[in-house]
Amino acid sequence: MSEKMNEIRQAFSEKLRNALNAQALEEIRIEYLGKKGAVTGLMKTMKDLSNEEKKSFGQQVNVLKNEITEAIAKKVEQIKQKELEIEINSMPEFDVSAPPVLERGSYHPITLVQRECERIFSSMGFNIEDYSEIVTDYECFEAVNIPKHHPARDMQDTYYLTNGQLLKSHTSAAQNAIYRKYRKALVEEGKPIKAIFPGRCFRNEATDACHENTFFQMEGVMVDRNISISNLIFFMKTMLSEVFQKDIKVRLRPGFFPFVEPGFELDISCLICGGEGCPSCKQSGWLELCPCGMIHPEVLRAGGIDPEEYTGFAFGLGMTRLAMMKYGIKDIRDLNSGNLKSLSQFTAE
Ligand code: PHE
Repeated sequence: MSEKMNEIRQAFSEKLRNALNAQALEEIRIEYLGKKGAVTGLMKTMKDLSNEEKKSFGQQVNVLKNEITEAIAKKVEQIKQKELEIEINSMPEFDVSAPPVLERGSYHPITLVQRECERIFSSMGFNIEDYSEIVTDYECFEAVNIPKHHPARDMQDTYYLTNGQLLKSHTSAAQNAIYRKYRKALVEEGKPIKAIFPGRCFRNEATDACHENTFFQMEGVMVDRNISISNLIFFMKTMLSEVFQKDIKVRLRPGFFPFVEPGFELDISCLICGGEGCPSCKQSGWLELCPCGMIHPEVLRAGGIDPEEYTGFAFGLGMTRLAMMKYGIKDIRDLNSGNLKSLSQFTAE
């Protein structure tokens, strides 16, 4: 009997050595420990033995059974370990202690303010328009009532390309194209023109904390029958109160721009002192924010709209200015600096 057991033991060791994967091991387990397995078969032969023999034989079979069970479990572990090693070795090498290559990005404060304004104006029925940064002299100046040699050109000196085109010095450069785009719907279907057009503007500027050669504006126009200054005040007040999340007082002062008549400077109550007077508002209680006015008849005419029938307002919101006020940014040059330390700290509300 013990010879038989040794045979089984040897054959098993041989098979186990050659088994390479989990499936082969399972087959071996069934072959030895299964219902019809070799060890189970040994047990069945016990019934022919005397009681004395049964005892020692039973013990030996049990030892064999345990040996086989343990050997299989050990080999299963080994195979698992090997498979894991193969998987790890086939993975690309990387250093877990290396710092991340890409930091999480964030929106530029101007983008945040621009999106906020766009959201508010589109909720009031304004279309959002995109316009080129390179424009013609006609679009930037002549179409908005600034003829050649007009002194107003002096303040808006900009960068000229060799082909005579220029980098737009204000978003008003898109006004003519907007009127032309929407005048048919205005005249034929009675749909008022309501559009905003944010954009990057350029000027020949000596830079300091308050002046930059590159900045952002957001122009807005509304044209219909019977549009008046009250419409202008309403839209500006609503928009600014939303942006700053509090009721903003506005006031209009006369201001000159060749493309509006009358023209205004729109001031808002100082955000810091609430109107009482502080160093930020030079003790006046007011901050200058947005030039605006009623669109000049010549400008409407140049856009193909009859100023006898239609009137409108236009405003040129200084978006860079607005972002500085909203986030308390003191130096305009930070905005174009590309310095992530200062630019990545802003979030939308
Ligand atoms: N385009 C003017 C500027 O940049 C601002 C403005 C726009 C004024 C619309 C009145 C109406 O200075």
